[in-house]
Amino acid sequence: MSHDAIENLSHENRSFAPSAAFAAQANATAALYDEARADRVAFWERQARELDWETPWTTALDWSNAPFARWFDGGKINIAVNCLDRHVAAGHGDQVAYHFEGEPGDTRTLTYADMLREVSQAANALESLGVQAGDRVAIYLPMIPEAAIAMLACARIGAVHSVVFGGFSAEALRSRIEDAEAVLVITSDGGNRKGKALALKPAVDEAVVETPTVRNVLVVKRTGQDVEWTDKDIWWHELVGSQPETHEARAFDSEHPLFILYTSGTTGKPKGILHTTGGYLTQVSYTHKNVFDLKPDTDVYWCTADVGWVTGHSYVVYGPLANRATSLMYEGTPDAPHPGRWWELVEKYRVSILYTAPTAIRTFMKLGEDIPNGFDMTSLRVLGSVGEPINPEAWMWYRRVIGGDRCPIVDTWWQTETGGIMISPLPGVTATKPGSAMTALPGISAEVVDDEAHAVGNGGGGYLVLTEPWPSMLRGIWGDNDRYVDTYWSRWKGLYFAGDGAKLDDDGAIWLLGRVDDVMNVSGHRISTTEVESALVSHPKVAESAVVGATDETTGQGIVAFVILRSGVQGGDDVVTELRNHVAHEIGPIAKPRQILIVPELPKTRSGKIMRRLLRDVAEHRAVGDTTTLADGGVMDLISQGLNTPTSSED
Ligand code: PRX
Repeated sequence: MSHDAIENLSHENRSFAPSAAFAAQANATAALYDEARADRVAFWERQARELDWETPWTTALDWSNAPFARWFDGGKINIAVNCLDRHVAAGHGDQVAYHFEGEPGDTRTLTYADMLREVSQAANALESLGVQAGDRVAIYLPMIPEAAIAMLACARIGAVHSVVFGGFSAEALRSRIEDAEAVLVITSDGGNRKGKALALKPAVDEAVVETPTVRNVLVVKRTGQDVEWTDKDIWWHELVGSQPETHEARAFDSEHPLFILYTSGTTGKPKGILHTTGGYLTQVSYTHKNVFDLKPDTDVYWCTADVGWVTGHSYVVYGPLANRATSLMYEGTPDAPHPGRWWELVEKYRVSILYTAPTAIRTFMKLGEDIPNGFDMTSLRVLGSVGEPINPEAWMWYRRVIGGDRCPIVDTWWQTETGGIMISPLPGVTATKPGSAMTALPGISAEVVDDEAHAVGNGGGGYLVLTEPWPSMLRGIWGDNDRYVDTYWSRWKGLYFAGDGAKLDDDGAIWLLGRVDDVMNVSGHRISTTEVESALVSHPKVAESAVVGATDETTGQGIVAFVILRSGVQGGDDVVTELRNHVAHEIGPIAKPRQILIVPELPKTRSGKIMRRLLRDVAEHRAVGDTTTLADGGVMDLISQGLNTPTSSED
């Protein structure tokens, strides 16, 4: 038996090197790794110099008060100026910053000059409401240009934004406003979702009754639906629309707070992850340029994330704008009004870089390749993945069906806490393996360790840690420094523990194995849910799966798999037997699921992550726990109903 903290079970031999043509034109070359290895901090300084600083820094990294980092101390910079003014000043005012497409099909085109004007007006509007540098502003909006404009207006005046995902409830909004003591909420009447106008304002009305720190609510008119009105409320178009079109920006300290973004912990109240200014913008612009190979003059870039998540902050707003990208922003869901909507948009806007999540890819796999095959997607040249481990078969499908076998895939590992991408291939350099995020980016130091913090070495599995500070790292948890130290820095001295399991293959490539809280212990073997899920998804009848460990009298835990079949495939005992044998064949008898349940849907958070906790409740025949963060509350009923149909097998 191995001594790995987590077993290394599956093996993947496929590898895809970048084409010579792609490599020849790529922004990043292998020299970046050498440069960063030679002097990591000097490497980051060179990246920071790509930005416009009003005052240069005096100390590149101060880690004397670890784990509280200071990057580019003494430097002064304005983020909005770097994202907008400098591009307009350089003659790019007419370049499109965002092609916006609403779900109903309405469109808006915002150039860099338009964005600068609207952000300046919004900044003036915030100042007219008495919002000052350091004040917190809650933003609760759908995916419309005003979301980016509001964030940049805050950044421009040094106010700290806290974006709350528009799908969250009044209670979630209230607790976040309260924790940050926000003085202003920016919202809209509603947004368009799956063909309906979904109201947002009532949740704000409910939240602000109990949050006296909020002086005003600024309301964007998006859907035109009826809204209740109180004396705190102001229409965005009336106030912002009447402001001067220029705004004098001043620079802020590199360590000035930029935003708070709440992320749910495994227990207790959400954590307000705090990010600051200079280091954050340095890392998000560097990663956006090199990982996606962005060419500002020719690419059309589309990150499908909502601004309510960190991906929307770093790779819809700050990274792309700092790099003068032309982006697509889309308001709706992938399947409205029809399941080919995304591919229709790729064709319409000639999207060349697409950045999305495995959950979306697996959903499209389930629907079948005829749908994307109906559109011209030859404009695509780079594909990205983020948010969860991508199963090798989903990766292969993404490459073949969406990328036409020609686009490099960058599987990017990072977190709300890391602010920017940490582990990823470089598309013109790295030969990628389906399902692996490959290696730490130049400038980033990651390691896989065992319970005693010893490096596991190639072929071993354990815990992913980050061994050196990085510019876009969180600077703490808002109002709770002890919790910051406890959560991330207390397991092993001097190491940031990300909470994820990982393994190194024989070549040293990193494979993410999911959250360590989800790791199963079967007869003393620590088995990752990700590996069993990927084995299931490698069967041609399976679209998606979620695996959990359920208490087992003999083995400690037994593996229980929930499986969604591809469209057109019939469930039944035969399929279940076939799948159990398939897993045993792919990764070994130890990983053979004790039980497989065919289900129509899986419980997911609103950002698309599978909620295994709820599935463990089902597998252990308990009442299902707190479902308030589920994207679709009805899913657990569907799954429970499925348990009563004869498609599960147990032996
Ligand atoms: O478990 C990892 C998973 O998502 C977690 C971070 O989630 P969040 O803070 O919501 O940020 C998501 C967008 C950056 C990680 O701890 N995760 C994210 N990207 C990957 C991933 N797991 C495997 N592979 C990835 N590429």
